Amino acid sequence: MNKHIGILTAGGDSPGLNAAIRGIGKSAINSDRMDIIGFRDGFRGLMENRTMRLDLKVLSSILTLGGTILGTSRDKPHKMPVGEDTVDMTDVICDNYYRNNLDVLICLGGGGTQKNAFRLAQRGLNILTLPKTIDNDVAMTDVTFGFHTAMEIATEAIDRLHSTAHSHHRIIVVEVMGHNAGWLALGAGIASGAYVILIPEIPYDTIEVAKAIRKRQQRGNNFSIVVVAEGALSQVDYKTYSALKEEKIKAKEEKDSKLKKNISEELKRFTELRSTNTLRLSQELEEMTGLESRLTILGHLQRGGTPSAADRVLATRLGSSCIRYIDEGVTGAMIGVKGQGTEAVSLEEVVGKRSIVPQDHTWLLSARRVGTCLGD
Ligand code: F6P
Repeated sequence: MNKHIGILTAGGDSPGLNAAIRGIGKSAINSDRMDIIGFRDGFRGLMENRTMRLDLKVLSSILTLGGTILGTSRDKPHKMPVGEDTVDMTDVICDNYYRNNLDVLICLGGGGTQKNAFRLAQRGLNILTLPKTIDNDVAMTDVTFGFHTAMEIATEAIDRLHSTAHSHHRIIVVEVMGHNAGWLALGAGIASGAYVILIPEIPYDTIEVAKAIRKRQQRGNNFSIVVVAEGALSQVDYKTYSALKEEKIKAKEEKDSKLKKNISEELKRFTELRSTNTLRLSQELEEMTGLESRLTILGHLQRGGTPSAADRVLATRLGSSCIRYIDEGVTGAMIGVKGQGTEAVSLEEVVGKRSIVPQDHTWLLSARRVGTCLGD
């Protein structure tokens, strides 16, 4: 009897999702042992039992498409917005898994999706996941699909900003996505030859950045590109943020739920304010260096459009290898990238961790060697 495989895509969309859906779907159909069905809009579609047929005709035209043909959402099974409320819909999701006679559910997503998928695995569902995000911050995999494409897009955009910064003798501060990890900013910054790269892993000192730009001015270069990861913090803000986080842990240990709630709200306000950090930085650099400064936020451009060749290959590799792991009876695991191969890593090992740029990472060391200012 054929195995029934379900697929959903959750969290922020990312180039390569359709290539992965195609990789899973075609490999399943070609195996003659598996049927495949898609659920729309992430865990919400599974909760509402909204499905999509994934036959060879549908799968044949999607390799190069950006986004996800299944749609996505950030809804969590245990905290599903329903009307005005947030409801735990895990039971309904489990019922729909069985109603569709699923043998395995494959969830394609980033860190949040790995966590939600793990919760379903703990409820006894057979779950596999793939690591997808432009942020490249999923633990226990060498890389995530979507990252390479986003790095290409950001690099091309920064290259274009370079010529206008040069013509106008300006500083251009470019904000790049990446959540709390600096992979995207660092990769695109190095590739585009940015003079300053600021990432969350290295809290920055604005005075040091201004000093570096002035030094460059003295060498006759009256323009600078400053690439900033959206999660980068100044040393001052980093101190406030770390103190709040520590207080939250303490409140949790002391089971002081009121204090914990207050601190969580403060942390939320602090994170929301972060969106103004790059504008503040741009203004401060203008004041400190006397050079005009402009801010460009690349935003969702970085997630849109057709995946790069590298992401198409990676997503196809990961998607098609799922079928092999299903045949081997692997469950409760993320199929991660390990060198030239893949590896099934228990979801328990994946959740609660994040991949950030290590201080001794070769990309960081190379950036320093070529004279890039990292803000410290
Ligand atoms: O996780 C991918 C990502 O693009 C992050 O880089 C960014 O912080 C976030 O999603 C943006 O989320 P949304 O699309 O929900 O605004």
